[in-house]
Amino acid sequence: MRNLSTTSFAIFLILMFLLDGGWCDGDSEEAVVVAPMKKAEQDALYSAIQGFVGNWWNGSDLFPDPCGWTPMQGVSCDYMDEFWYVTELNIGPLHENSLSCSQNPEFRPQIFELSHLKTLSFFDCFTSPHNLSTLPSGYWEKLGASLESLEFRSNPSLIGPIPTVFGNLQKLESLVLIENGFTGSVPLSIGNLRHLKRLVLSGNKCSGRIPDSLGNLTELLILDFSRNSLFGHLPFSVGYLSSLLKLDLSNNMLEGAIPGEIGNLKDLTLLDLRNNNFSGGLTRSLQEMGSLEELVLSSNPLGGDIGNVDWGKMQNLMILDLSSLGLSGEVPRSMAKLNKLRYVGLSNNYLTGNLPLEIANMPSLSAVYVNGNNLTGELKFSETFYRRLGRQFGASSNPNLCYPAGLMSTGNAPLGVYPCKSEEISNDPSLKSNLGDEYSNGKQQKQQPSMDPAHKQAWGGARDLNPNIISSLGLSSSGIDGVWWVLLAETFVMTLLWSWFS
Ligand SMILES: *[C@@H]1O[C@H](CO)[C@@H](O)[C@H](O)[C@H]1NC(C)=O
Ligand SMILES: *[C@@H]1O[C@H](CO)[C@@H](O)[C@H](O)[C@H]1NC(C)=O
Ligand SMILES: *[C@@H]1O[C@H](CO)[C@@H](O)[C@H](O)[C@H]1NC(C)=O
Ligand SMILES: *[C@@H]1O[C@H](CO)[C@@H](O)[C@H](O)[C@H]1NC(C)=O
Ligand SMILES: *[C@@H]1O[C@H](CO)[C@@H](O)[C@H](O)[C@H]1NC(C)=O
Repeated sequence: MRNLSTTSFAIFLILMFLLDGGWCDGDSEEAVVVAPMKKAEQDALYSAIQGFVGNWWNGSDLFPDPCGWTPMQGVSCDYMDEFWYVTELNIGPLHENSLSCSQNPEFRPQIFELSHLKTLSFFDCFTSPHNLSTLPSGYWEKLGASLESLEFRSNPSLIGPIPTVFGNLQKLESLVLIENGFTGSVPLSIGNLRHLKRLVLSGNKCSGRIPDSLGNLTELLILDFSRNSLFGHLPFSVGYLSSLLKLDLSNNMLEGAIPGEIGNLKDLTLLDLRNNNFSGGLTRSLQEMGSLEELVLSSNPLGGDIGNVDWGKMQNLMILDLSSLGLSGEVPRSMAKLNKLRYVGLSNNYLTGNLPLEIANMPSLSAVYVNGNNLTGELKFSETFYRRLGRQFGASSNPNLCYPAGLMSTGNAPLGVYPCKSEEISNDPSLKSNLGDEYSNGKQQKQQPSMDPAHKQAWGGARDLNPNIISSLGLSSSGIDGVWWVLLAETFVMTLLWSWFS
């Protein structure tokens, strides 16, 4: 009889009733059995909800039997030891008939009397910019023996610190605090929550250092502190989180080296450290993370050589974003061995040399960005390669890089890259007559202020806006598509990451 859901229990009761011939009896004992809920539990539920929803809401009038025949949206109950107890309370507009919050929602102490509560969530509840609320700093320990999941999502006017007493919720498996107004540091006591599998604090205003004690959370699968203002080092104890699948610390102010212990996270599939202040080069042990599918380190003053990691070892990699890291060295040939790799972002570094031709044979590759480096030489990829990747191939702003002039007439030349200057082309009379003088010399183009119809025709009706045309319009092609590509790349990664999480 334990843990029977509300609905199935109701059906069960009705069946018993029918088999009993109970319809005609009108037996008063039967009527009592339909709502076996302790009055204290029931009153606590009404009062707790009224605190959030407003005083107009009269629970005993509206829902006289909240676990039985007048179920409430957002409330679930379990039947234990002959009584109904509230085990789940979801406040906020999740469903059409959900409990929506008032302009001034408040935590009443009664909520902590619901001693069998396993799941408590607040969505879009504390939202008024004029009435700010803080979480009660006490009482939470009363839910310590039962609460498994606590969630606050999209409550921007819920401010102040994350209570230290959360550390007493020993049964907690999921603590999700997304997009609220929490400030202060991550409490050390979180390290007590040994059964925690998911810890998400993204989109708050938390500052301070990441506590070492997190290393005690060895059952953790997801750790997401993204979009806060955390600073200091990433503690080496992160290496103890050996079950971790996703680690997202992006958009903070973390600094120092990425600790070598991170290589212990053998099951990790996502590592996102973008937009921080990490330095000290690419940590070699990253290559030990054989399960990694998405590695996003972009926009950190990391420095060092891109060849510090043996990329060929990371056979599950699908997304690799190393843009804006201050990396030097040549684009490693070993990257071309990554058969699952779809997205490679290497923009805005100090990479030199040419691109390895092998990348054209990578089976999953659909986007490569190497804009804003110091690559040199001739891009000798086939026309097919450029056609396949289209604008997902970005190589602009590499002043010493060029593509074979023969590609120019195909309409598949890489955007923002100049054709190689060669004797052949400037001596080819047919090309000259088609394209006009300005296309045979990169410098002259920029002086040409407009595009006449003859040029359009030469480019097949300007189906694709060619970089030469952009520069002939008097705009800096590298400037334009530099920003454009970065935005596009960013959006692409965001979309992929987003779809991961949803
Ligand atoms: C709800 O209404 C009943 C009368 O229908 C009243 O006795 C009770 O005090 C009200 N409760 C609250 C919390 O307003
Ligand atoms: C803030 O809460 C008070 C009640 O404490 C209420 O009277 C007021 O309307 C609320 N302000 C806003 C802007 O909702
Ligand atoms: C973490 O675990 C160690 C040893 O198991 C213990 O000494 C320490 O107090 C724990 N820290 C926290 C915050 O739980
Ligand atoms: C980034 O870290 C360096 C030390 O490596 C420090 O000097 C600098 O102030 C930090 N920048 C920010 C924005 O925190
Ligand atoms: C780019 O490389 C060329 C030679 O290959 C060198 O002369 C130049 O200084 C480099 N530029 C930068 C910004 O590193």
